[in-house]
Amino acid sequence: MEYTCSHLICFSPTRSSHLIGEKIMYGIGSERTDKTDLTYEGLRKPLRIRNEIVVIAVPVYGGRVAATALERMELVRGEQTPAVLVVVYGNRDYDDALLELKDWSVAHGFCPIAAGAFIGEHSYSREHFPIAAHRPDGQDLTEAVDFGRKIRHLVETGAEGWGELVVKGNYPYKVNGPKTPQTPQTDQAVCTLCGFCSEICPVQAISVQEERIVSSAEACIKCCACVKQCPVHARIFNTPYTEMLFQKFSARRAPELFFPQR
Ligand SMILES: Cc1cc2nc3c(=O)[nH]c(=O)nc-3n(C[C@H](O)[C@H](O)[C@H](O)COP(=O)(O)O)c2cc1C
Repeated sequence: MEYTCSHLICFSPTRSSHLIGEKIMYGIGSERTDKTDLTYEGLRKPLRIRNEIVVIAVPVYGGRVAATALERMELVRGEQTPAVLVVVYGNRDYDDALLELKDWSVAHGFCPIAAGAFIGEHSYSREHFPIAAHRPDGQDLTEAVDFGRKIRHLVETGAEGWGELVVKGNYPYKVNGPKTPQTPQTDQAVCTLCGFCSEICPVQAISVQEERIVSSAEACIKCCACVKQCPVHARIFNTPYTEMLFQKFSARRAPELFFPQR
């Protein structure tokens, strides 16, 4: 089968997964490309993908695939469609996320042909406690493009089947504790009420009410898109995890790539 189209499916509040996914797509170099970005809303009707190479790029939250990504991908289906699985994590670890994404892909009709764990600036990274700050950087993006090129080669030479893809991860998947009740806050003295935070919040947890920014702690997934993208830096999320992650996980980690075992 000749694959002339590739399709990026992503969920990416702070855009690292999106960027890595785009670079992999560039490396694959298909004649036509499609994109389903589920960051700001889920699908309204089922999405069936056949005869395309699918790249699925999602962030790691608590060593698992971000739960909102899985919810929003629920209506996506393949028909033995080749899938490239990508998790992006903030330099601590991706634990069982890639295995979870592989299991998800098989259960939804995809045939996983390659996988990668890439690094993006941690959502909790701050100026004084940087954690993988400014990643993915040039080196990461070059690796993502090269990964895409290898996938193109694999697809062109894999006529007799791609072989079993083994990725890192364990069963049972990592279990996380209850959600912390903290949520980003607004410095009302700095805020200009532009409403941008509300527009880019993936879960509509932020609204402008009576000249104030109001955040719903229940809806918030702590992705920190609002903190990182506020044009006047009025959104603040101080968590003790930031310093802990900075102390323990500052050493640069490299992307890990997985190919089928023939
Ligand atoms: C709630 C939450 C949990 C996270 N858990 C992890 C984790 O377990 N390991 C890790 O290395 N990074 C973790 N991160 C960091 C993200 O994986 C990282 O910032 C990633 O680049 C975000 O992807 P995005 O830019 O596509 O949104 C977490 C971030 C959030 C918001």
